[in-house]
Parts: sequence; structure tokens; C-alpha cells
Amino acid sequence: MKLGAPKEIGEGELRVALTPESAKKLKKLGFRCAIESGAGQAAGFPDGSYSDLGVEVCGSATELWQTTDLVLKVLPPTITELDLLTSSHTLISFFWPGQNTDLLEKACQTGATILAMDMVPRISRAQKLDALSSMANISGYRAVLEAGNNFGRFFAGQVTAAGKVPPAKVLVIGAGVAGLSAIGTAVSLGALVRAFDVRPEVAEQIQSMGAEFLFLDFDEDGSGSGGYAKPSSPEFRKKQLELFRNQAPELDIVITTALIPGADAPKLWLKDMVEAMKPGSVVVDLAAERGGNCEVTVPNSRVVTENGVAVIGYTDFPSRMSSQSSSLYATNILNLVAELTPEKNGSPVLDLDDDVLRGVTVAHAGQIMFPPPAPKVPAIKHPPLVPDRKPTREELLAAEAARFRRSTKIQISMLVAGAAFMLLAGYFTPPSFMQHFVVFLLSCFIGFQVIWNVSHSLHTPLMSVTNAISGIIVVGALLQIGSNAPIVYVLSAISILIATINIVGGFLVTRRMLAMFQKS
Ligand code: NAI
Repeated sequence: MKLGAPKEIGEGELRVALTPESAKKLKKLGFRCAIESGAGQAAGFPDGSYSDLGVEVCGSATELWQTTDLVLKVLPPTITELDLLTSSHTLISFFWPGQNTDLLEKACQTGATILAMDMVPRISRAQKLDALSSMANISGYRAVLEAGNNFGRFFAGQVTAAGKVPPAKVLVIGAGVAGLSAIGTAVSLGALVRAFDVRPEVAEQIQSMGAEFLFLDFDEDGSGSGGYAKPSSPEFRKKQLELFRNQAPELDIVITTALIPGADAPKLWLKDMVEAMKPGSVVVDLAAERGGNCEVTVPNSRVVTENGVAVIGYTDFPSRMSSQSSSLYATNILNLVAELTPEKNGSPVLDLDDDVLRGVTVAHAGQIMFPPPAPKVPAIKHPPLVPDRKPTREELLAAEAARFRRSTKIQISMLVAGAAFMLLAGYFTPPSFMQHFVVFLLSCFIGFQVIWNVSHSLHTPLMSVTNAISGIIVVGALLQIGSNAPIVYVLSAISILIATINIVGGFLVTRRMLAMFQKS
């Protein structure tokens, strides 16, 4: 089968759904590939980069649509493109079927199969096709760069001969994919980052990225289904706005990413908060396309308020990094096509019993297939950090006392058993044995206590440190291995083997750990 990508005709759209890299891999799946001339130019992929790999370059969109069966696009089809869509086509693109009901109906009437990239279910198996996450990641990154571009100061604090520069204070509202990406970028630039989300399970993710999670003292879990949020109660919202209002005067940059599926973006950064910000501060509203989280946002524009705050409401962040976003999007599409072509024979098979393929299919054989049934495997939901009911002080004290009684009982019984065992051993064995045995037991006890009390996160570095102990074991065993007693010989050999495994493993683990912190 032949697949191809036309040039995007949506205003300002610079992305392309097929890159030379993805075309190379699609050919391995048995497809012939085509591209409309100039389709990849704006994303940094000239026609030559495709033709060099044997991808056919078509002179016009009409030629491309008429000669290909599987059409790959970024934006939903326009009216002009709908005229070219026939029942023999399978179209893969963003579609937003919930918002574009008319378009879906028209596309369905052509009899074509439409696979919507924005409908990939949020289950682990489908992560490699998740174009929404790929694009959100880019938007979060780009939002920080746009903020920096509009902000007249450094992100990181500096002490220079000319004076001390404080670090920029950044607040990220909504810590989903875009929010976390913005947090990571702002932290890496040296800013002081705070973040807030209605889903308490993201607190750990925020903290692990080096930002501060703004806790709200209110017993409500904002997690909805499928990893998304649900609308907040009016009381929660009131508290949340109070928190933001207190933060506003000291913030330099606010990046808002809060969204609720199927609803307008909640208004979270109100006019008075913008007015309370210092001149030169910046608000980047990533929710602008859905009405914006900031009351001052004008979609697709940058406005500067009277008090000198720049409010950015661009909706084309991924397109502003067209090369990167095309590469990621094309890879997401490649992964979807691979799911469709398990035989790698260039003939896609639409298995509607498959959760992922059923999820993305919004029109097939003249029938509207949206909305899909819920996937059989639900999205992973973390347990809330906030328990249903907070235990009272008395309950906490009683639990602590019970824990103490239990551990004291265990310790006393172990001491009694140990003393009895030592008395028995001392009665039946020579004094020289007891001397060594006591040293052995004490070192086991101290070693156990030292390792047991190390926090879990430090177990890996600990493993590499135990190399030194293993080295001593190897030296001791080498001194003993020449012994004539078979038992000493065998024990020494086993010690050398096990300690060597530990040393080699320790080096490997250390290498991997260091690689994690190295910038490539
Ligand atoms: P999104 O774009 O719909 O929402 C962005 C963020 O805004 C969410 O974190 C949401 O909790 C937050 N939010 C909503 N209302 C808010 C309010 N009033 N105040 C503050 N924050 C508010 O969500 P996104 O980024 O697309 O994904 C959300 C989550 O979905 C991810 O964090 C992840 O847990 C899950 N996910 C799972 C995937 C998978 O398993 N394949 C793939 C991608 C995401």
C-alpha cells in the first residue's frame, strides 16, 4: 500500500506528518511512501531529504491524495481536503471529534476510515502513540522559552561584581505533561519554581523535579478518570484563588496549563492577580486555545497590560518548534501504523477489538465510531496522598504506642533467645571458637543495623560502596585458598566468586548511575 503526507494548509502550521526518518521505517513495514513537494520545507526537511531515501515527491496535493490510500496529516482535514477524501482512504490526523461534530459527519459520509491521533487512549501500551503528550511536552518547554524571551532578567540568581541578581520566581499551574515539561525547563535554567495541581498524586513528581508543590489545606481530590482532572468545587476554587492571590506580587513568571477534558479552561489567574504582578512579569497561558486560564489572555496574541505585564496566549507552540514536533509526531504516527500492520507487509488491518485501534477510530465504513467504549485496561490511577479522613491526634498516639509495644516485645524475645543460644554454644565449644564467634555476630549485627537504616533511595550507591568490603573479602580468601583443608579451600573459592560478582556488579551499577547524571 502507498501512504503519503500532503502539505499542511492550516494557517501558520509548519509541521509535517512524515519525516525522512519515519519514511525510512515505514518502508520497512512494507509501505511505499510519498510526500507533497514542499510539505517538509518549513520543518527543516526539504524535498531532497525525502527523495534521497526513495520517497516519491508529488507535485500537488491532488496528485498525492489521488495516488495514496493512507494519508498522514497533522491538522484535521479542511473543506478543500474533504473533497479529495474517498472511501478508499484511511486518514490519520488530529481530529478533535468531540468539538468537530459537523466535520466528522461530512468525513464519515465519504466512507473513509478516520483515525484521530487525539483519541489515543491513555494506557501504558499506547504511550508510544500519544501525540497529545508529545506536543504538550514541546509546548511546556517552549512556554518557558517564550517567557524568557519576554522577561528582562536572568532565570538563575547570580552574584556579580556589578551586584546581586535574585533568581526568577516561576509558578506553574497544572502539572500534567506540559506543566511538568515547563517545570523541568525552568528548574534547569535556574529559576525558583513552584507548582500547583488539583491532582494530589502529582506532588511527588513536582518535588522530584526540583520544584515546590503548593499544598492547599483542603480535603478534595481533583483527580477524574483516565489521569485527567475533574472540575473543582466552588469552595476549593475559592481557596485556590486565595492561594494564587497571595503568590501574585512576588512572582515573575506564571505558566498556566490547567485543563479539564471536554470543558472550557478554568479561569485561575484573574485580572486582579495580573494587576498585582510586578511590571516586567510574564504570564504564558498554554490553555489559550480553550479560552485560557488567565482572564486577560487574548488567544493567538501577546498583550501587555497597563502595569507592564506581558500575557502570552499563543496557541501554536508545537508549530514554533516545527522540526522537533514533526519528528515526534511522525514517530507517533509510525507507531500507530506499526500497530495497524503487525505482519509488516504494507497492508494495514483495523482490528476493532483492540483497545487502542478502536479508541482512535472515529469513522469507518460510513459509520461514526465516536465516542469509543472505555478501554478494557483502565488508565493507572495513583492512590490519593490525602486519605479519605484525617486520623485524630488520639488515634495517632494510640497507633504509635501499639507500634512501640510490639517492637519492644520482639526485641526482648530476641535478646533472651540470643543469650540462651550463646550460653549453650559457650558450654559445648572451645573458648577460641567463642572469641571469633562473638566478633562475627557483632559485625553481622552492626552491618545489619547500618544497612537497614539506609534510606531506600540510597541502596544503589550503597551497593557500589560495598565494593570496598568485597575487596577485603577477596584478599582474605586469597590468603586462605592455599590451605590443605578441603573445607577452607572450597569456602575461599566461593567467597572469591561471590565477592567478585559483587565488585563487578558494583562497578556496573556505579557506571549506570554516573551516566544518568552526565549530560550527553
Ligand atoms: P490536561 O492537559 O488535561 O491537564 C493539565 C493539568 O491541569 C492536569 O495535570 C490537571 O490535573 C490540571 N488541572 C486541571 N484543573 C486544574 C485546576 N483547577 N487547578 C490546577 N490544575 C488543574 O492533562 P495532560 O497533561 O494531558 O495529562 C494529565 C495526566 O494524564 C498526566 O499527568 C498523566 O498522569 C496522565 N497521562 C497518562 C498517559 C498514559 O498513561 N499514556 C499519557 C499522558 C498523560
